[in-house]
Amino acid sequence: MKHSKFRVGVIGTGGIFRGAHVHGWKAIPDAQIVAVADINADRAASLAKEMDIPQVFTDYRELVKLDLDAVDVCTPNGVHTPAVLAALNAGMHVVCEKPLATTTKDVRLMGELADKKKLVLMTAQHQRWTASALAIKRWAEAGNLGDVYHARVRAMRRAWLPIAPGFIDKKLSGGGPCMDIGVHALDAALWVMGFPKPVRVTGTAKVNFAQTDKIPGMWGEWDRKMYSVEDFAAGFVHFDNGATMTLESAWLGHQTENEDMSFQLFGMNGGVKWPSGEFATVANRTFVQGNLTWPTRIDRPHTEEILAFYDSVVNRKPTPVPWTETIKVIAILEAIYKSQATGREVALKLA
Ligand SMILES: NC(=O)c1ccc[n+]([C@@H]2O[C@H](COP(=O)([O-])OP(=O)(O)OC[C@H]3O[C@@H](n4cnc5c(N)ncnc54)[C@H](O)[C@@H]3O)[C@@H](O)[C@H]2O)c1
Repeated sequence: MKHSKFRVGVIGTGGIFRGAHVHGWKAIPDAQIVAVADINADRAASLAKEMDIPQVFTDYRELVKLDLDAVDVCTPNGVHTPAVLAALNAGMHVVCEKPLATTTKDVRLMGELADKKKLVLMTAQHQRWTASALAIKRWAEAGNLGDVYHARVRAMRRAWLPIAPGFIDKKLSGGGPCMDIGVHALDAALWVMGFPKPVRVTGTAKVNFAQTDKIPGMWGEWDRKMYSVEDFAAGFVHFDNGATMTLESAWLGHQTENEDMSFQLFGMNGGVKWPSGEFATVANRTFVQGNLTWPTRIDRPHTEEILAFYDSVVNRKPTPVPWTETIKVIAILEAIYKSQATGREVALKLA
């Protein structure tokens, strides 16, 4: 730490920063948010007033000229790469909202720069800090799951379509539910599986309902003219260790659940479902099943992810979410779009 306080700059002061990240920074007595940048000057100024933040900018390039320890990037997806590169180039550690980028090319660009500069770069995949995901990860690490040969991954919503341009305008978001929520369940499943390398993907990404009035959005109306991303996507993935995965993601669709954010892993020793923690196995030719339980505590995954980022910076630990893992997540999502565009299976050649 360069100063007595850990000096943080925030780029993007919208929903996720105000609703989630801010609580993480408030939980660290040594951290101080010293500057915010947002193209929406009023939004940035009102946050600065509320939290007594001395410096406010509308251009993040001004913010990274300050002497900061770390930058927290919470802009729409399309701004992540330039904002992260600017902060890394200025010598700051970075935590950035998901998806870190919407192309593997950009993930690699940021990751290699962070490595070269020996800076922490972390993708904010907060689902890894949910009590259920942590419990399943520990259960798997104890050998209860064994090698996973198949995974079912779902991020399916009935009508929660985010209406802001940052989500529905492809120029800003880089994709629809695949990039917005598919990324959560996919990252969490791959994390428990130990991040095998994806090698082949087929997929579909379509607009089924978003250009119609058939399904009313829970978050209100959206601009049909601006809407330029899929509202449903599905993929089938092969990994280098022979494992396979299905991934389904949607913002709109006919299902009873408001949201099904889940995965089911089939391992050689046992099977498990997230987030329920239901598991199944066989012991001495006897069927065994039950529910994992975890210590009851306040489930505050966004706060835990900020604490983990801070810990990795100040205690010089490896980043909790390395770009070498994130690139596998983004490679799968990118390949689903490519498969839709070409009508073919996509071969991946990750190093
Ligand atoms: N982890 C989660 O659970 C979760 C939930 C929601 C959103 N997100 C992610 O967080 C990011 C932001 O989403 P949100 O819901 O907060 O959106 P939002 O629209 O509420 O906020 C984004 C903010 O970024 C600002 N902005 C846009 N361009 C900018 C630029 N060039 N420089 C500085 N500021 C800029 C906007 O004015 C806005 O205030 C997205 O990447 C999204 O995928 C994550």
